[in-house]
Amino acid sequence: MNIVQTSSSRVARALPRFPTSSPPSHIRLPVAQVRWSSHSPLGAAPAHARKPVTINTLQSLYRKNEPITMITAHDFPSAHVADHAGMDMVLVGDSLAMVALGMEDTSEVLMEEMLLHCRSVARATKGAFTVGDLPMGAYEIAPEQALESAIRMIKEGRVKSVKLEGGKEMAPTISKITTAGIPVLGHVGLTPQRQNSLGGFRVQGKSTASAMKLLEDALAVQEAGAYAMVLEAVPAEVAALVTKELSIPTIGIGAGNGCSGQVLVQVDMLGHFPPGRFLPKFVKQYGNVWEESLRAISQYGAEVKTRAYPAPEHTYPMSKEVLSDFERLIEKKRAGSE
Ligand code: KIV
Repeated sequence: MNIVQTSSSRVARALPRFPTSSPPSHIRLPVAQVRWSSHSPLGAAPAHARKPVTINTLQSLYRKNEPITMITAHDFPSAHVADHAGMDMVLVGDSLAMVALGMEDTSEVLMEEMLLHCRSVARATKGAFTVGDLPMGAYEIAPEQALESAIRMIKEGRVKSVKLEGGKEMAPTISKITTAGIPVLGHVGLTPQRQNSLGGFRVQGKSTASAMKLLEDALAVQEAGAYAMVLEAVPAEVAALVTKELSIPTIGIGAGNGCSGQVLVQVDMLGHFPPGRFLPKFVKQYGNVWEESLRAISQYGAEVKTRAYPAPEHTYPMSKEVLSDFERLIEKKRAGSE
């Protein structure tokens, strides 16, 4: 029995904090960032702005058999960098609960919390197609409830589509939402919101019966109008066969290379966590943000303690005359109070 777990970049900070000199040539400084405060916006659309990805773009990638790239983002900076990196899709997954809010599992995260994070991701995402995860409790009661939540995701969360977990039993719900003109990304295989009834985070589709159930779920989700679906924690061979039976893209996570695209949780693939944390087998770690952040923050702390920071170049200049005037006034004030 296989048990799996589901699942700031320094670049923007390289910007000068006051406009005394030109920025390095590789940095395009949007007008809004030329200010004298540390409370500066993180940036605007990439200078090399691309055409926004739409449902049609995704269909065209699928038809060309070009893999679709998707990554999670949970706030403005993580969405900003994902968008700059050219991701086709950005998902505000309910993995938010664990990797951004420190909760134990996804069942705790609220609709209001998802909406807040969707809004910040949407502000940063100018090119990628955005997806907001419907959290547990926001869609299971009735298709009408699901539609209401999906509308909130679009109107308040400002994302372009919604994701929900479940197979055949969710078909009427998916149909209700898509009929209202809201694109739905399905999610079958391991569905983390249902971990308690699945007996934990278990690989799905390992027996013939379970693989057949997966196929039937996938077909029902497609029939109900989903534009694509996530296949999570499924043997690669089963995922490839299910993908072949469908006429919409599958986005795999722990489902091998035969899917139409891939998704990873950004915090996992960036290594933005302390050493020793359990990582599911399917995660490839492409970076070590924790180590770099730890190094930088420790160095900052040490430099503050030794007064090496701030150095003269980190301070604002003033005229010598004003300074000596000020010193003279202080002297005078001191003398007056003696
Ligand atoms: O919540 C999430 O991040 C997800 C992905 C793992 C697909 O659902």
